[in-house]
Amino acid sequence: MDILSVPTTPFEGQKPGTSGLRKKVKVFQQPHYLENFVQAVFDVIDGLDDLPLAGAALALGGDGRFFNRTAIQTILRMAAANGVGRMVVGQGGLLSTPAASCVIRKHGLKGGLILSASHNPGGPDEDFGIKYNIRNGGPAPEAVTNAIHARTLEIESYRTLEAEAVDLDRLGTQTLGGMTVEVIDPVADYAALMESLFDFDAMRAALAQGRRVVFDAMHAITGPYAREILENRLGAPAGSVLNATPLEDFGGHHPDPNLAHAKELVAIMNRPDAPDLGAASDGDGDRNMILGPKAFVTPSDSLAVLAANAPLAPGYAKGIAGIARSMPTSRAADRVAEALGVPCFETPTGWKFFGTLLDAGKATLCGEESFGTGSDHVREKDGLWAVLFWLNILARRPGESVGDLLAAHWARFGRDVYARHDYEGLDSAAAQGLMDALKARLPGLPGQTIGGFTVAQADDFAYTDPVDGSTASGQGLRVMFKGGARMVFRLSGTGTSGATLRVYLERYEADPEAQRGDAQDLLADLIQAARELADIPGRTGRAAPDVIT
Ligand code: G6P
Ligand code: ZN
Repeated sequence: MDILSVPTTPFEGQKPGTSGLRKKVKVFQQPHYLENFVQAVFDVIDGLDDLPLAGAALALGGDGRFFNRTAIQTILRMAAANGVGRMVVGQGGLLSTPAASCVIRKHGLKGGLILSASHNPGGPDEDFGIKYNIRNGGPAPEAVTNAIHARTLEIESYRTLEAEAVDLDRLGTQTLGGMTVEVIDPVADYAALMESLFDFDAMRAALAQGRRVVFDAMHAITGPYAREILENRLGAPAGSVLNATPLEDFGGHHPDPNLAHAKELVAIMNRPDAPDLGAASDGDGDRNMILGPKAFVTPSDSLAVLAANAPLAPGYAKGIAGIARSMPTSRAADRVAEALGVPCFETPTGWKFFGTLLDAGKATLCGEESFGTGSDHVREKDGLWAVLFWLNILARRPGESVGDLLAAHWARFGRDVYARHDYEGLDSAAAQGLMDALKARLPGLPGQTIGGFTVAQADDFAYTDPVDGSTASGQGLRVMFKGGARMVFRLSGTGTSGATLRVYLERYEADPEAQRGDAQDLLADLIQAARELADIPGRTGRAAPDVIT
């Protein structure tokens, strides 16, 4: 088969963001657009980790959104033309993000390409994305993504070949040019990993004895995973997994597991006959939301509860080495870490900051307020893993509801009452102006009283990685108050239009009597103080946030 060298010219803007290159499908459909980026990846990873690209083995799969299959065929032809030895592809072109991480690690691959735009909508007019994960199964570090971007700006040609399309639906081995294509069951390795971590016998017994779970796959990638694990292996009744068939446009919805987008699930969990556990995951399967009957578990509390109950899961029975959380995530996990006598690391927003801590064995569990939880079992956050962890805990604490578990946790550790307010689609200059003005005021804030709260400390969060010494600055404005309340202001790094201001609010409540109640009510004074401090209405023209989680 002849290898073709196709002349091309660079595209501006092929800079991978927090989680790879994300653009509208129409952008990716331009001739050479995907090819340029993929060639840049291949050029940069040749020699990375002392492994040449020639003869290397890579994983490939995506969340099944529109353009997934087309992109996979393009990438396979290019991989063959670039001398890749073996591509391990999920059947149907599918692999959830955590499953891809699992496959890279388990099969000892050089890395992998994951096709996804996470929780963004899919379809011909919506989003597509591609990212490269390295040998440890985690997202490529910034040095690598910067090198990929630099390469896209100087590219002159890419390599491909003419060949019949690979049959992505047929399990087993095929060849493409000189390359082996191995189509694998996308669920098997991941399901085996979950069986090694959690008490499947206890969960099976609990489900047989009447515990009920409902999981909303949101027509995204976790449908096949959840069906296999929850229904087939654990015996949950058929239909326990909602919206289980991955659709190219996710049924027209946002596949984002939060109170705003998972309305169907929220309605079920508010019924009088609600199941014991309600959960959802996102487009590519790395996010999660946990609900109980009339109970919402904030991602921050979820991390803390998992950490406090970790020994109930066989994979964590020997204890955890440490916890890591992103800075805007509440300090609930810190209290558990302190009780356990293990460190708690505070990192900037973004899962990639956990990689070094996990690799070095300093942290076992990690979590972010943005509905991400995970552990050292892979190097991505893992939605279904979190759901199974909760189910494992419920199975081992019979008779207790999700609400009971939360109440007991708060009674022991205190409650970090928490809310996030998002102001979306803001004028970028106005949003930046708000941040700049607040940043300028930070040094003068300590000692001042705002809405009844006295500022103890205020800073612009900066981080030095304790493992490799790398630094990150400008990661969010923190205002800490006497008595433990905190506000954090950040601009989203993942939006595609305008700017999104995120305001993270929390205060500590030690008194069990005062812990019950809705976070918005319990935080009302702090919310008002935050609006005044940053002059949100004046600078954004918004009277209220668009999304509250
Ligand atoms: C992605 C990353 C997360 C991160 C989130 C932050 O989902 O995978 O690790 O927490 O983005 O998003 P934001 O919009 O707040 O920058
Ligand atoms: Zn995701």
